[in-house]
Amino acid sequence: MPGAGDGRREDGPELIRFQDVTKRFGELTVLDDLCFSVYPRKHVTLIGPSGSGKTTILRLLMTLVKPDEGTITVDGEHLTHEERHGKLVPAGEKHVREVRKKIGMVFQQFNLFPNMKVLRNVTEAPVHVLGLSKDEAEARARDLIELVGLTEHIDKYPTQLSGGQQQRVAIARALAMRPKVLLLDEVTSALDPELVAGVLDVLRDVAHSTEITMLCVTHEMSFARDISDCVMMFDKGRIVEAAPPEQLFGDPRHQRTRDFLRSVQ
Ligand SMILES: Nc1ncnc2c1ncn2[C@@H]1O[C@H](COP(=O)(O)OP(=O)(O)OP(=O)(O)O)[C@@H](O)[C@H]1O
Ligand SMILES: [Mg+2]
Repeated sequence: MPGAGDGRREDGPELIRFQDVTKRFGELTVLDDLCFSVYPRKHVTLIGPSGSGKTTILRLLMTLVKPDEGTITVDGEHLTHEERHGKLVPAGEKHVREVRKKIGMVFQQFNLFPNMKVLRNVTEAPVHVLGLSKDEAEARARDLIELVGLTEHIDKYPTQLSGGQQQRVAIARALAMRPKVLLLDEVTSALDPELVAGVLDVLRDVAHSTEITMLCVTHEMSFARDISDCVMMFDKGRIVEAAPPEQLFGDPRHQRTRDFLRSVQ
């Protein structure tokens, strides 16, 4: 479905654009001529069966893997190419680093720095990558730690926190870089069931109280319904359908979507 996934209301130029992107691993075509856009401040959710290529989309955006064909732009800039003397050439490290600064990601495994307390986990990259002063980074971090409900744990080490609390630190840490887009890949799937709700509540707060654009892979359908402007049903490297949540969950157009939704309920 070319051009799908734009969250309907177009709000300025797109922030993320996949144009005819194909990704293969050996014989396997994981993404097949994929086209979609995400517009600023929209929350787009990817759902679909295991192995359909959802994580690969996020890994392409993180430049952890490269597309075989097609182009990806972030905020109008090519992710894997840059313009030199009016020609598109493979991007150098500096260009990739600059574009990557616009993207934050939270993974299933939170990967906090184990030897640093909560506050320093959140200030470390803003100080060393963005060049913020320590005071500025701390002020920013304290606000975000409050947003994720961890002010009373600010002086603890990751091992002194529950999995859900650690994941909330990871969310604050990603937001501290002020990315334009936040990528979330099944961020609650490694958590004990009773900790899932707290993390999803924090993400609902982030979605509703900030202007950040989100591209989110989740198996939590009620969460997808709550936060999304657009849900993209993904299968075999292609978008089956993309629609606002009321429509996609309430009245899916495609049999494949109906079957999938039945299997996860
Ligand atoms: N580095 C890799 N090398 C080879 N094959 C890979 C690699 N990464 C992913 N794949 C394959 O690509 C396909 C899509 O993987 P991907 O992780 O994007 O799926 P997914 O939709 O995120 O699945 P899940 O819901 O289980 O997380 C799978 O068949 C996977 O085995
Ligand atoms: Mg995945």
